[in-house]
Amino acid sequence: MTSPIAFIDLAAQRQRLGDKIDAAVLKVLNHGGYIMGPEVKQIEADLAHFCGAKHVVSCANGTDAIAMVLMAQGVKPGDAVLCPSFTFAATAEVVAWVGATPVFVDVRADTFNMDVLSLEAGLRKAREIGLNPVGVIPVDLFGQPADYDTIEPFCAGEGLWMICDAAQGFGGTYKGRMVGTIGLATTTSFFPAKPLGCYGDGGAIFTNNDELAAMLRSIRIHGQGSDKYDNVRIGMNGRLDTIQAAVLIEKLKIFPDEIDARDSIAKRYNALLQDLAIVPEVQEGATSVWAQYTLRLPGFDRDAFQADLKEAGVPTAVYYPKPLHRQTAYRRYPVAGGSLPVSDRLAAEVVSLPMHPYLSEDVQDHIVGTVKKGLFNQRKAAAE
Ligand SMILES: Cc1ncc(COP(=O)(O)O)c(C=O)c1O
Repeated sequence: MTSPIAFIDLAAQRQRLGDKIDAAVLKVLNHGGYIMGPEVKQIEADLAHFCGAKHVVSCANGTDAIAMVLMAQGVKPGDAVLCPSFTFAATAEVVAWVGATPVFVDVRADTFNMDVLSLEAGLRKAREIGLNPVGVIPVDLFGQPADYDTIEPFCAGEGLWMICDAAQGFGGTYKGRMVGTIGLATTTSFFPAKPLGCYGDGGAIFTNNDELAAMLRSIRIHGQGSDKYDNVRIGMNGRLDTIQAAVLIEKLKIFPDEIDARDSIAKRYNALLQDLAIVPEVQEGATSVWAQYTLRLPGFDRDAFQADLKEAGVPTAVYYPKPLHRQTAYRRYPVAGGSLPVSDRLAAEVVSLPMHPYLSEDVQDHIVGTVKKGLFNQRKAAAE
């Protein structure tokens, strides 16, 4: 290998885009509409066209995106919102922001996504302790849509809304539906390392609900009403910068091609590694955007495995070494059924390999060869 292997190679993408982004950013610098400039409207229209959502409300990041929907729904102290424990902190953090209680539920070992049986247990738990359950936030973890065929009817039957946290999953599909068109609303993040990322922070909310979209647009700008200086509700400063919108317009054009490339790489990794480790599964009828390619290594010394790979120049990462219900800030919140064994197990077993659309077959082969060696070393050490 000549150059170091990147875990996510934004430089290769930048090279492919050539001077298109430079020109797009320069255009914003010259027209001067840095806040809510024309590119913001444009990217919202482009994203709506891409996924088929009726409304797209761009915003400052994927955390605000969820928070804004919770604010619009009037979530308040005493309310419970059910979310998986095996996710990034933002999913539950925003529930606490609005004074409500996140109730943690377990995930499925095969897809890493919310388990409807644990969701049922979480709902019972919330009611038992006197909370008022109002909604569920399934997460499309590592790029794969959650198990909406089970979660959606469950929510409908219990009168709960569903906000899909697709910070990692935008661009995916679920049984003929594009991510962005499922649930009351879907949120995403354009953090640079996400499958569709900008060059800073950014996010968006997708919804088919006219009333919600209007409320989100108001919340995004301090709760403004039709008169700019008569704020009609409590909102926030949640806007997407025009420069980031300009970056996203260019990146969205190559996104479908990048998704295909990610999928081919993941399939190739799976074919080459399936006999050696537990490789990630995509549910029948779903497509993943492979925000992460994550193996499970039960019984292995993960630290030693990662150290071997690092030495051979292959970066790895662990998402997530601690499920939320074990983290200091979240330990005090209720847990479905008293424990979340799958989240605990996954946190101990998972490791993610380099994944981005610009991994050549040579580099993939080098990564796979190094993973094989690392697994062999671990097996040998265990046998000694
Ligand atoms: C599942 C999930 N939800 C929410 C977020 C928050 O997005 P942002 O970093 O844009 O605020 C992230 C980002 O890492 C995420 O992975």
